Parts: sequence; C-alpha cells; structure tokens
Amino acid sequence: MSQALRLHAFGYDGLRLEELTLPQLGPNDVHVRFHAASLNYRDIMTVHGFYNPKLAMPRILGSDAAGEVVAVGSSVTRFQPGDRVASLFFDRWHEGEVPQDAAHMALGDFVEGVFATERIMPEHGLIAIPDSLSFEQAAALPCAGVTAWNALVEKGHLRAGETVLILGTGGVSIFALQIAKAHGARVLLTSSSDEKLALGKSLGADELINYRTTPEWQNEVLRLTGTGVDHVVEVGGAGTLPRSLQAVRSGGHVHLIGVLSEPGHTVDPIPVLMKSIHLNGVFVGSRGMFERLLAAVVTNKITPVVDKSFPLQQYREAFEHMQTGRHFGKVLLSLK
Ligand SMILES: NC(=O)c1ccc[n+]([C@@H]2O[C@H](COP(=O)([O-])OP(=O)(O)OC[C@H]3O[C@@H](n4cnc5c(N)ncnc54)[C@H](OP(=O)(O)O)[C@@H]3O)[C@@H](O)[C@H]2O)c1
Repeated sequence: MSQALRLHAFGYDGLRLEELTLPQLGPNDVHVRFHAASLNYRDIMTVHGFYNPKLAMPRILGSDAAGEVVAVGSSVTRFQPGDRVASLFFDRWHEGEVPQDAAHMALGDFVEGVFATERIMPEHGLIAIPDSLSFEQAAALPCAGVTAWNALVEKGHLRAGETVLILGTGGVSIFALQIAKAHGARVLLTSSSDEKLALGKSLGADELINYRTTPEWQNEVLRLTGTGVDHVVEVGGAGTLPRSLQAVRSGGHVHLIGVLSEPGHTVDPIPVLMKSIHLNGVFVGSRGMFERLLAAVVTNKITPVVDKSFPLQQYREAFEHMQTGRHFGKVLLSLK
C-alpha cells in the first residue's frame, strides 16, 4: 500500500491523502519507496488549475522525489533492490533537444506523480543518486536543479568571469546561484527581502538588490556592470521581462523559465533584435542533463538548500508556505 497525495478537483479542498494499492510490478518496472519529495511552483499552479486546466483527475501530484528501490522487474538492468534513486521530471526525455511531446511525459501532470510513499515506476523514469546526497537533498533537484543547470550550462554555456543576474530566491533561483558560483561567475541577486539577500550573500552572491525598495532594479544592474549582464535567470515572466531585457548586455542571454510576476506588461521585441539578445526558452531538462548536474554537485560539493520539510500529512501547510513566498530555496515533504 502507498499513501499518496491526489488531486480530485482544483483548489486545496480537492487534495486528498489516500491509501492506494500498488499495481503489479511489470518486467520494466521498479518498486520505489520514496523518503522525501520537493514542491515546485508548478505544483501550486496545478492545484489551482492554472498549469493544465484539462488535468485528468484524480492525479498523484509532484515531479520530484527520492528514495530507495524495493524490487525490480525481470527485465530491469539499471537498478537493483537497495539502490538510491530520484525521479526524472520527464520520464522519457533521455538526451538532446526537448521532445515535441515533452509535456505529455511530465510527472504530476500527464503522468502520475511522486507525492507518494511508494510507487511502481518505469525504469526509464528514475536516476541513480550519489551517496553524498541525502534523500532530502536529492529530492530538491529533479525540476528546479535541472532547470537552472539546463539554462546556464547546457544552453547558456556559462563561463568563468561572466555575470549572472538571478531574480528571486526560490528553488530555481538558488540552484542557479550555486551553479553560477561553481562556474566562477559574478552573481547579482534580487529579492523582495533583505534577510533573504543576506542568505544569498552567504552562498556567494556578489551584488544584492532588493526589488521592492529598488523597483527600477535594471538601472542598478546597469550601474553595477556597466554594459549589462551576460545572463539573466528570468523566473518572473511578463512582469519582469521588459526590465530583464534592459539589464542584459548586447548579445547576452535571457533564460526564460518562469511566470511568477503579474502579467500586465506587453513585451517590446525591439530591444531583443537591436541588442541581439539570445532568448532561451527552458523546459526543465533531460536525463543526460540531470546526470551532468549530479556530477557537478558532487565535484563542487554543492549542497541543495532546503528551507523547510513538512510531514506529508501537513501538505496544505507546505503548499501555503510556498505560495506565500516565505521560503528560501526548496520546500520539502517528508514521506517516511
Ligand atoms: N520552465 C521550466 O522548466 C521551469 C522549471 C521550474 C520552474 N519554473 C518556473 O519558474 C518559476 C520559479 O519556480 P520555483 O519553483 O523556483 O518557485 P519558488 O520556489 O516558489 O520561487 C518563488 C520566488 O520567486 C521570487 N519572485 C516572485 N515574484 C517575483 C518577481 N516579480 N520578481 C522577482 N522575483 C520574484 C520570490 O523571491 P523573493 O522571496 O526572494 O522575492 C519568490 O520567493 C515559476 O514560475 C515556475 O513555474 C519553470
């Protein structure tokens, strides 16, 4: 039996923690006991019906979890009982460019998710995790970590000495900060909170900008860098993009990742062409990207930043903690 968090109808009242019987183990399946999971902003959007209004329900939520293998099907070659594993955001994107039907491979959306104590997963939907990472730390990585890695390293080809502007201090942003510092970049970090900026400084952020007290933060970025930054980790969307386009240098990269801000702005394409800005759409990433991220995490001793872990039973508190933006880094669910 598994305890699973399933969405039956949009809204927090549509969430239920339920006992589910596990299906039979198929030849290519792996029985996993999950110990920890992490929330992503998309899980909040999913609950409220903004991520996929046509979501098939009931649906087990969540894309990110880590745990250990209990049993494997007869044809499984990658794993054996006792192995430590994490979920892949897309259960079938192994390498190369994003597949045309990527959205149909995403856990906690078209595919059953991992906010569950046990799951029968396809072998190709899992990745081995290094011993140096706890289950909690590994559970922080599949969506936010891989997204930040794909943006800055795989597509952005980040190099030492470059400047990176990171918006906010949520899951994706703090991984971007850690990855950028591991690559020898100079990081400009924005936040609505001076306390969070101080935490960012302790992780290596070089320049700190409070976007509440400095609403025209793009001017401060230009003052600090002269020409603008080489990379922007854009998690705000339409509400922040016009400023990000001003803050980036000519020929720089704007990694389009999120939609956290209120829309309300039309985006002027003129600066994109006149500055020849590389607009880089990012949709999490592949297994190969996750493997390279794990290698970097181990080599550089990157410790994923866990803000708070909630018992699975307190899922609602966990979602509300994240939705109100009180966190720095990742919010976790304990599945033990
Ligand atoms: N494209 C992809 O593949 C992909 C993958 C992962 C996430 N995402 C998207 O990326 C975004 C971030 O996801 P997440 O899971 O990291 O979220 P999160 O942990 O909830 O991060 C939220 C943080 O973003 C900051 N923020 C909010 N509004 C902002 C604004 N107007 N300007 C600057 N910063 C702002 C706040 O930081 P402070 O509290 O410091 O102000 C807030 O705490 C979401 O839109 C999510 O859907 C996309």
